[in-house]
Amino acid sequence: MSELAWWQRGVIYQIYPRSFQDSNGDGIGDLPGIRTRLEYLAALGVDAVWISPIYPSPMADFGYDVADYCNVDPMFGTLDEFKQLMGRAHQLGLNVLLDFVPNHSSDRHPWFEESRSSRDNPRRDWYLWRDPASDGGPPNNWLSRMGGSAWEWDERTGQYYYHAFLREQPDLNWRNPQVRRAMDDVLRFWLDLGVDGFRVDVLWLLIKDALFRDNPPNPAYRPGEPEHHRLLQRYTEDQPEVHDIVRSMRATLREYGERVLIGEIYLPVAQLVKYYGAGGDGADMPFNFQLLNARWNAREIASMIQAYDSALPEHAWPNWVLGNHDNPRVASRVGIAQARVAAVLLLTLRGTPTLYYGDEIGMTDGAIALDEIQDPAELRQPGIGQGRDPERTPMQWDGSLPHAGFTRGRPWLPVDTTTSVRDQDNDVSSVLSLYKSLLVLRRSHAALVQGTIENIVAHGDVLTYERRYRNQRLFIALNMGDEGVDVQTQSGAVLLSTMTSRRGQAVVQGAIHLAAEEAVIVARGNE
Ligand code: NOJ
Repeated sequence: MSELAWWQRGVIYQIYPRSFQDSNGDGIGDLPGIRTRLEYLAALGVDAVWISPIYPSPMADFGYDVADYCNVDPMFGTLDEFKQLMGRAHQLGLNVLLDFVPNHSSDRHPWFEESRSSRDNPRRDWYLWRDPASDGGPPNNWLSRMGGSAWEWDERTGQYYYHAFLREQPDLNWRNPQVRRAMDDVLRFWLDLGVDGFRVDVLWLLIKDALFRDNPPNPAYRPGEPEHHRLLQRYTEDQPEVHDIVRSMRATLREYGERVLIGEIYLPVAQLVKYYGAGGDGADMPFNFQLLNARWNAREIASMIQAYDSALPEHAWPNWVLGNHDNPRVASRVGIAQARVAAVLLLTLRGTPTLYYGDEIGMTDGAIALDEIQDPAELRQPGIGQGRDPERTPMQWDGSLPHAGFTRGRPWLPVDTTTSVRDQDNDVSSVLSLYKSLLVLRRSHAALVQGTIENIVAHGDVLTYERRYRNQRLFIALNMGDEGVDVQTQSGAVLLSTMTSRRGQAVVQGAIHLAAEEAVIVARGNE
């Protein structure tokens, strides 16, 4: 598999640093904590960790409001501790990806403090400042993704500034070449230290309409949806000029060899795949989030896989994401039995999988009492169901320890102790054992990594497809329904099943009876 880059062969594991492992008893995860868990990740069988933001930040949006792009927040540790973490990760064969947050800084970043200090400050144009409309109100109708107008009035200089998210997260002006140079320096700072790539926050939002035109109303808006859905984001996202920025980020990474550029992009597939650029000059992997909102049935998933595969430009490398810190967990979306089926799906589809911490033990969304809510998205738009705390609860290491071994202090969000890594580690029927087996299979079967994906078919509730590479042919069947069903297959060995009861029945002859909610991988041909 050597002609592929490491990030094409590998599996990425997302760590939300507040919630992975606390080492100092303050109830919040940190870098030394993560370092103590690297052996676990290496043994799990992933290839890279992406760590959500660790930079100095007032934490209005838990680190996605950056006050210094080239340092580490004391809450998470020090720059030296980051280097130690990365050194140990590299020894264990794990690559380290950081979260790059270029769209906006914190309002406490010195750049913004200068920018807001006067209209003629040299950094004024680093952010998006506009005069009020003729009635004194905001310059246009743009809405914040965290509720309300996206424009914040600044009394001192008599203008509004734009923030796609919280008012504490002013958007940078990416049309200004100085901003682009400063952000390029940020990439180089971390690349020089040896990081293996970046996940770029809200890549598709970086450029806004040069004329600041009003967004049109969204005819499909339904009451109860987040407020910004009232408008189509015609002038605030996916502007053509953004691709030039992606190209220049890619060019910088290329100077450093095999580093990966991943874009956080929530767009329909036809627009998403444009972020690959032409001839590999765009993002290596525009995140493919389709599984996060997919209706969980075989027909839907089959057509999603086919449509994605055929939309990919030549040479573009696919990828799939099953969970992240902004969306309900898979085990809560589809149920714990189907979360096992989803694990087989994620790790047998064509393309790089990204796992969200805790999904490998089937963590479910935490129950958050009203007085425990932390997420600003929920606090500022109560009741609209946007709260992201449930999927951010601490990692469950050891159910026999207080707070499941996450902290010896008071955890920042409640810890569920009903299951843990320790409970599942020696249990062959656990979700963790399933993930480990799948990750071992990926390493040992080139078809799963670089094979084609073919014959994607939904038969009732069962989704089947094949992965082929040279003589290796793997047949995958996923029962997304709750009844047993017979499925035609060629004869071969069952390499893996989500049902431990199948152990011992190693060979099938032309057909297999899938139990309710069972997924299998059958090797065929010369395998
Ligand atoms: C996307 C991040 O994933 C999310 O957590 C954050 O709130 C916004 N970008 C703003 O940075």
